[in-house]
Amino acid sequence: MAVILGIETSCDETSAAVLEGTGDDVTLRSLVILSQDIHKVFGGVVPEIASRAHLTSIVPVVSRALSDAGIDQSGIDAVAVTHAPGLIGALLVGVCYSKSLAFSLDIPVIGVHHMEGHLFATALENAGAVPPFTGLLVSGGHTLLLDVEAWGNYRLLGSTRDDAAGEAFDKTAKLMGLPYPGGRPIEQLARQGDPSRFRFTVPMVRRNDLPGDPDYYAFSYSGLKTAVLNAVRGSDDIDRDKADIARGFQDALIGSLVEKTFRAADAFGRDRIVLGGGVACNSALVAAMRERTGEIGATVFAPSPRLATDNAAMIARAGLFRFERGERAGLDLNAFASLPIPGLVAA
Ligand code: KG4
Ligand code: ZN
Repeated sequence: MAVILGIETSCDETSAAVLEGTGDDVTLRSLVILSQDIHKVFGGVVPEIASRAHLTSIVPVVSRALSDAGIDQSGIDAVAVTHAPGLIGALLVGVCYSKSLAFSLDIPVIGVHHMEGHLFATALENAGAVPPFTGLLVSGGHTLLLDVEAWGNYRLLGSTRDDAAGEAFDKTAKLMGLPYPGGRPIEQLARQGDPSRFRFTVPMVRRNDLPGDPDYYAFSYSGLKTAVLNAVRGSDDIDRDKADIARGFQDALIGSLVEKTFRAADAFGRDRIVLGGGVACNSALVAAMRERTGEIGATVFAPSPRLATDNAAMIARAGLFRFERGERAGLDLNAFASLPIPGLVAA
């Protein structure tokens, strides 16, 4: 059994967590997430402000995670830190801090890929969300459809050609005058919307798509964003139309996520579907996914909002997996703005 301190600073959350366990049998002993509200003022994350905020909060956030777990630094076996992908200055705060802490305690440091963290997040709450499964990761920066044979063994089936799913929510919210981040405000508005008024085309889905087509598992959201922009500009009463447009947007976006995930689960014979990333806490997405994949008897696992959005518990969990495999980073561990998820196998 190992005790892992997880650290996450890739974007606008400073987070630390203590997790202990072996394999899939783990206990989350603490999780502290400090969200940087300052970015709401600018309608998006300002990288330099994010880095500075991480710098001032990292020490108290880690102290709090340790005291919540009832341990001090000497109780940690390894430090797992997000080292990619993300905002480079923000990542560097977590990476430099983690390397220094690990060096001073003479314990290993492990670099974790943020998206692998999201893949593990759902298993922290649902014992059944373990491989083999079809994985859909939908965050502010990524949209990844994966077939997961085993932890650390990922077949990348599809990703976005342009905007990520969360990015599409955020940009659409912005052009509709809603606050940042836009996922939750759109979801709430869409609940009151009439689904029949704005039927936007479901992107990248045609009835005659065939397995092997280059777009069979791919996503694209920039066209949908433009269609929403045109609808907003064309409206003579935006207050009347807003909720209906939000509903049309969300239905089209969810339609593509559900169809591609269904195709993957069906093709690989998976009976488990694991959702991850901030967009995975959209309840309309989860409901639509359950309805469609129920046809093939698949169970859908979705994380709660606290673990769906950025947090260090998922980093500690992915870090434990890498730690148990004997992986250790050197003190030359670096941060990368973009990096492929580790463990990719040929499609
Ligand atoms: O995973 P995450 O916290 O950060 C990244 O790694 O990017 O995801 C943040 C994204 C944002 O784009 C946000 O708008 C979206 O998740 N999001 C949602 C919802 N809650 C957060 N999107 C749709 N519906 C929601 N309820
Ligand atoms: Zn994330």
